[in-house]
Amino acid sequence: MNVLVTGGAGYIGSHTCVELLNSGYGVVVIDNLCNSNPESLNRVQELTGKSVKFYEGDVRDEALLKKIFAENEIGCVIHFAGLKAVGESVAIPWKYYDNNLNSTLVLTKVMEEVGMKNIIFSSSATVYTGDNEMPLREDSRTGHCTNPYGWTKYMTEQILSGMALADKEWGIVLLRYFNPIGAHKSGRIGEDPRGIPNNLMPYITQVAIGRREFLSVYGDDYDTPDGTGVRDYIHVVDLARGHVAAVKYVEQNKGCDVFNLGTGTGYSVLDMVKAFIKVNGVDVPYKIVDRRPGDLGMVYADPAKSAEKLGWKAEYGLEDMVQDAWKWQSQNPMGYGE
Ligand code: NAD
Ligand code: UD1
Repeated sequence: MNVLVTGGAGYIGSHTCVELLNSGYGVVVIDNLCNSNPESLNRVQELTGKSVKFYEGDVRDEALLKKIFAENEIGCVIHFAGLKAVGESVAIPWKYYDNNLNSTLVLTKVMEEVGMKNIIFSSSATVYTGDNEMPLREDSRTGHCTNPYGWTKYMTEQILSGMALADKEWGIVLLRYFNPIGAHKSGRIGEDPRGIPNNLMPYITQVAIGRREFLSVYGDDYDTPDGTGVRDYIHVVDLARGHVAAVKYVEQNKGCDVFNLGTGTGYSVLDMVKAFIKVNGVDVPYKIVDRRPGDLGMVYADPAKSAEKLGWKAEYGLEDMVQDAWKWQSQNPMGYGE
């Protein structure tokens, strides 16, 4: 069976292409390369020894989508394509609503027309409200998002679940990712952020390689064991395998289901920095600074539903995550740009 992977040249998409190909699926990618480099797909092919059919273009381009469905027998879509920079979404909200909502609307319209109604969507733990008890379960409260990026994830969940209610032929899986980090074990594919990284792990690796002077640790006065923010970091290969499990699930189950993809374990910013230094034997200078607006003290998943229904569990631990993140960064100091 062929899977159409939107945004397949990106960080999570490229790792998912590897896992899909290794599991025997054919892979067709559409990506407009607005936040990625096509070299990632060359490396996916090199790692798997299999080919990926690549269409360069925008998911909002209805004619292109129709052509892709006409030229390929697609059995399922994984919809990664989207913009994800929280700060930029506050500065340019329209760009985020247009890209993230219209891509889903055009995609599902074409899927409806061709009668292929299995879709897996990249949602985020950001849809949960900040006042929930930990760990977060799929039925914890959602909404009250603090930025347009978060609202696009929340709204897309509403759009897709409404479609499944109205038409029983849809098979929809909403995957709420916690904090994906790390890279493929080979060090050949990984996260290649443009400009200054917003997220913790790419910032750490760029400090370690000497591209940045020091890490700013955003606050050490949270109600957490060492005062720094706690998150549920998940190895990107585990996350990618969660998508293969979801593809199998959606082949068997119609309706709309939502699953957390996290490990259930939280680590603090200082846990991450210390593990990175210890495992990799490199220095990561850091300074404690003020809290980042909008941040929560502690966020981690209850992954029980994914284990029970998807038959999926994260397997990699903290050492693998920091080791693989460093292997990718040290082998590719400028990402795919070199
Ligand atoms: P990424 O930016 O590396 O990948 C997204 C890909 O989509 C890029 O290759 C980009 O060029 C492409 N794209 C964007 N808009 C497009 C459009 N309109 N048409 C075609 N291609 C388009 O990001 P990622 O980290 O791999 O994230 C993948 C998905 O997972 C995104 O939807 C993101 O919001 C979601 N997500 C990511 C995280 C995370 O921490 N990385 C957490 C939660 C959810
Ligand atoms: C952030 C986004 C979230 C998005 C997710 C994945 C915000 C408020 N939230 O989540 O919407 O889904 O990324 O893209 O932007 N930290 C530092 N120094 C840094 C960077 C981060 O101390 O330079 C700390 C943060 O305060 C936090 C932890 O590291 O405690 C993780 O931060 P980050 O990687 O940005 O992820 P989230 O904030 O969980």
